[in-house]
Amino acid sequence: MWQIIGSGAIGCLWAANLLKTGQQVHLVSRTKMLTTALQYQNLQGHKEVYACSNSTTLVKQNGPILVCVKAPQVKQALLQQRKNISDDHVIILMHNGMGSAEQVAEVFPNNPIICATTANASLVNGPLNITQTGLGITYLGAFNRPAQRYSDLAMTLNNALGNSHWCEDIQQKLWLKLIINIAINPLTAIHQVNNGKLIHAPFQEQIKTIIDEAMPVLDELKLEFGRDELLQTINKVINATAVNYSSMNRDIHFQRATENDYISGYLIKKASQYNIETPFITSLYEQVKVLESRSLIQ
Ligand code: PAF
Repeated sequence: MWQIIGSGAIGCLWAANLLKTGQQVHLVSRTKMLTTALQYQNLQGHKEVYACSNSTTLVKQNGPILVCVKAPQVKQALLQQRKNISDDHVIILMHNGMGSAEQVAEVFPNNPIICATTANASLVNGPLNITQTGLGITYLGAFNRPAQRYSDLAMTLNNALGNSHWCEDIQQKLWLKLIINIAINPLTAIHQVNNGKLIHAPFQEQIKTIIDEAMPVLDELKLEFGRDELLQTINKVINATAVNYSSMNRDIHFQRATENDYISGYLIKKASQYNIETPFITSLYEQVKVLESRSLIQ
């Protein structure tokens, strides 16, 4: 049985598509749901309803645990379910940002841990009610040695939603997504603009500065990215999501905590380990911190 922690946009999207392909799914939400009917509108506008068992706790069952909460909540969400997690449960982490896998490995040292990144997207209309808004690639890969033998899980996700791949170099994929988020999220959050605005001045110059500051860190980590290739990829995402507001933009707009520490904060921490300075990325990080603390104390 698949158990999914987090009944938001991504958790429900996987739940619906896994159920569709005959997998058993149990969904764990923060608050008790009053229904088991999971309503899902796919990209063609077709509405489907699946019976999805759910509760606020994991059930004692074997099978993968897919964690779809935001990076800052991952460790706590798993610790809350500790009594129902045994050493052989595979833990799959799927969220924006990096750094949660290290935290999970500290508290669950024997569990296989998989990191995943997805470009699928959906919107939450209400409890257990989502509309898919984007179809994209999903990559999964082992964070630790015990996870290396679980590449089959990518096949199950591939059957469910397509475009899902096991990756031997998951760090490369995670860092690429991280750099995309470092370039898009803080700028769209600070200026409260949609992603599309970043294709214009002065943002393009600022994105180039972000890439220039990130490159020495990527080099130290032996990750092979070219400056032009990074700029092209970031601009491709900006154009493909032009009308969207980034997740950090929405978090600031709705006065919620952001993933700042797991996005720019993660890179800044790595940079300081190598004595690399990242003044522009750091100033964006600090501006987001100020906006976040202002909204959280209100
Ligand atoms: O965080 C987000 O909103 C997304 O990861 C991305 C790629 C920036 C698109 O909006």
